[in-house]
Amino acid sequence: MYTIHFKFEQKGLEPVTIDNIAGGQSILEVAEENNIELHHNCGMVCACSTCHLYLEKGEQHVAELTDKEEDFIDRARNPKIESRLGCQCVLNDGGSGRIEVTIPDQSLIHGE
Ligand code: FES
Repeated sequence: MYTIHFKFEQKGLEPVTIDNIAGGQSILEVAEENNIELHHNCGMVCACSTCHLYLEKGEQHVAELTDKEEDFIDRARNPKIESRLGCQCVLNDGGSGRIEVTIPDQSLIHGE
């Protein structure tokens, strides 16, 4: 099982840690289930950049970055070396470990 520690760039939001997360779901899905705001305009099919986040630790626990994902990250606001798309960060089945994520300020993103 995984633990995901979410931090937020938006002022006033305290970090949140979610434990006992099973593999097979994306970081975006985990965020959604736990009422953590992260836009997803394309419906989680790697065709937008609104689910952009920073994967600070634990990249070995999620699906590898693809060329398509990289293309959309280039269009995100303020991309960095640790940028990923939340819908594409699917947790490895059967694994365990700690993941740390920073969510960009969602108030600056037009999305659903
Ligand atoms: S929701 Fe569109 S790329 Fe993730």
